Amino acid sequence: MSDNRQDVVEKAQTSPIEQERIVIFDTTMRDGEQSPGASMSLEEKLEIATVLEEMGVDVIEAGFAIASKGDFEAITEVSKVIKNSVICSLARSGFKDIDRANEALVHARRKRIHTFIATSPLHMRHKLQMDPDDVHQAVADSVSRARNYCDDVEWSPEDGTRTNRDFLCRTVETAIKCGARTINIPDTVGYTMPDEFTALIKMLRDRVPNIDKATLSVHCHNDLGMAVANSLAAVKAGARQIECTINGLGERAGNAAMEEIVMALRTRNDLLPYETNIRTENIMKASRLVSAVTGFVVQPNKAVVGANAFAHEAGIHQDGMLKHSGTYEIMTPESVGLSKSTLVMGKHSGRHAFKTKLSELGYNLGDNALNDAFGRFKDLADKKKEVFDEDLIALVDDAVARRNERIRVTKLHLTCGIGVRPSAKLELEIDGERNSATADGDGPVDAVFRCIGKLFPHQAGLQLFQIQAVTEGTDAQADVIVRLEENGRSVNGHGADTDTMVASARAYVNALNKLLVKREKTAPAALSA
Ligand code: KIV
Ligand code: ZN
Repeated sequence: MSDNRQDVVEKAQTSPIEQERIVIFDTTMRDGEQSPGASMSLEEKLEIATVLEEMGVDVIEAGFAIASKGDFEAITEVSKVIKNSVICSLARSGFKDIDRANEALVHARRKRIHTFIATSPLHMRHKLQMDPDDVHQAVADSVSRARNYCDDVEWSPEDGTRTNRDFLCRTVETAIKCGARTINIPDTVGYTMPDEFTALIKMLRDRVPNIDKATLSVHCHNDLGMAVANSLAAVKAGARQIECTINGLGERAGNAAMEEIVMALRTRNDLLPYETNIRTENIMKASRLVSAVTGFVVQPNKAVVGANAFAHEAGIHQDGMLKHSGTYEIMTPESVGLSKSTLVMGKHSGRHAFKTKLSELGYNLGDNALNDAFGRFKDLADKKKEVFDEDLIALVDDAVARRNERIRVTKLHLTCGIGVRPSAKLELEIDGERNSATADGDGPVDAVFRCIGKLFPHQAGLQLFQIQAVTEGTDAQADVIVRLEENGRSVNGHGADTDTMVASARAYVNALNKLLVKREKTAPAALSA
């Protein structure tokens, strides 16, 4: 790929209004990971970062360096492997945060420190317990500190959309004076509306005297379902960077979804004459990876990446599609990385056909992962007459979820039925050592989960247990999600198998593995600015 990302980021920073290129800032690994239940291991973050770079993301926010050892390591390692995208760490306004962000970014070819402090009356009074003059001073100090380390400094007034307009202008002007080259306006609680946000961005451009020395950016949350609309409204008003996440992952209702923003800019280029560097053909691959890693299933009717986004069931629609695909399709499946399904998979399908099929579905696995998935596909094809695309998606997502697990389910035997107290015998491999336990319970699932508790005692509470059939038919795979919560941290575990109890055990164990990774993280409450 010819790579001009840094040039574009710099150009946007020096002449933000004339150029029509929108800088895409991905925060899947920072804001996305902050969403309850989402967690990513170091290996998974490296994989996601590589996919983001391949798809042309300009800036990757790889974490919040001071938040945890895990975040720090992820930023350090991502900095070592990523060559073209700018790598960014978040930091509060304290010097310790900013110094830690700089340390984490030491290997980055292109680095950015993103520092923020809350500026709304509510946040300043109740959360920070600081008065506006002290916050204003903190803006100057934090941006100046960050500028000692790098030229590329971004500053955000947290809860910007609920900030007093005069104070917002004052702090933005100061941040730019102290060297911030990107000013990011967060709609932290997803409160604003498109017209209001357009007016706010215009107001900043009209009233802040040095605004032309910085790129205006926006960071919209989706609490009222407006994140994408608000981001696009801001672009029309002069914003030239959008902060977003794959699948709209993020705190509470999430952030603006990158795939929706990029496809809206591409599909309605007549109304939105702006371009991005994103290779839209890589969208499905990124979406599936993030979904598999986090256990956050994409809703079937989700725009652009949902399973039904390109499905046409109603007869009248199918008829129209056969006559001209444009009748009901405003973008092609190929443009987001889905190719027309030509291969039907069964137990005689070979490795090459399997690989081709996965790539049609948006997966491009490395050799090891492919071999592993192929072995599991053969097992599945022995059990199931027909292997549908949904089966393959569940199978690959399950294989992705299970990589690098410290705890693994190796054997399971169950007794249950009418007039029998359900009981289970389960074997787990924990750090290479196999042990088994038996337990009975109020139902087979309860018995299985009690066995896990005996073999790996823990305090985590079960918050969610959800079973879904992947396809129709009694031989369908069960797709199970388990959410566990421990000390305010929650994780989603995911398991798929034709045996519902095996899928349940795997999902629970997958969640436990994620908790182990997350245990070292600082409690989120301790991190507010
Ligand atoms: O939502 C928010 O305000 C944030 C900032 C740290 C940019 O995530
Ligand atoms: Zn946010």
